[in-house]
Amino acid sequence: MRTLGTLADAAAFRSTAPSPVILVPTMGALHAGHAALIDAARARAGKNGTVIVSIFVNPTQFGPNEDLAKYPRTLEADLEICAAHGADAVFAPAAEEMYPPGDSTFIEETTLARGLCGAQRPGHFRGVCTVVAKLFNILRPDAAIFGEKDYQQLAVIRRMARDLFLGIEIVGHPTVREPDGLAMSSRNRYLSAEERQRAAAFPAALKQATEEPDPRSIVTRANELITQGTGSAPEYVELVDAETLEPLASLDRPAVLAAAVKIGETRLIDNVRLAPRHAKV
Ligand code: PAJ
Repeated sequence: MRTLGTLADAAAFRSTAPSPVILVPTMGALHAGHAALIDAARARAGKNGTVIVSIFVNPTQFGPNEDLAKYPRTLEADLEICAAHGADAVFAPAAEEMYPPGDSTFIEETTLARGLCGAQRPGHFRGVCTVVAKLFNILRPDAAIFGEKDYQQLAVIRRMARDLFLGIEIVGHPTVREPDGLAMSSRNRYLSAEERQRAAAFPAALKQATEEPDPRSIVTRANELITQGTGSAPEYVELVDAETLEPLASLDRPAVLAAAVKIGETRLIDNVRLAPRHAKV
């Protein structure tokens, strides 16, 4: 496995990389969720194609009061995980190369990025789109894989790829969970033992709320169950159209129940998909 530390290294590697080239963008601190994405990339690339993992803690997607400075950086362990899961190369550039002095161009998706996490984290998806577009231009992948854990991110990047005619297939991968249901996340390591226990109630609450009969009662129940189970009121709970992310009044199309909750200082997000329900006759 090659480690590519500069744009010049990446360009040289890319110029001879056998197709298809599959990219897994990450911010490092890799866990079994990321590893599953790398496995899926390897399967898609086949024996002869190329799997590239990018590891870059992207400053522009962190708000001023967020955890950029303390975001976990575990490059040695990350490289081992990438190699063990069959990556051909890891692209780990310096921030000054990704955002050189005088850099003044951003990419902004203006509709899907507005609600849910976008409402709580102004500028977050603008930072995500900008860095992902840069990674796409540097590495020119045929396809890129993103996790459904960050459902809104996946939808925003799909829309960006479509709107800008990027010609890159955006592939979603199901959320990988701990045995008790908590979605794996690099931020889970911030949780104390007691917070970690409370966190397990979050996915359970979302799942249980989907048993309610209609959109309004699903959201109300999810709010109650999250608050009771985790001891924290959620930042948001919304039932939205799986494609447009618009709030849904009726379960007549694929939907997503998405929520965020802060446990202690750690912000967790999760979602569950709901299939359309047809009115009984
Ligand atoms: P990061 O949080 O490191 O996540 C990298 C990728 O792994 C994302 O596509 C995310 O959805 C996926 N992922 C994380 N936890 C997962 C889980 N439990 N199951 C399945 N997939 C999971 O998301 C980012 O980085 C950044 O915003 C990035 C896209 C790299 C742009 O900076």
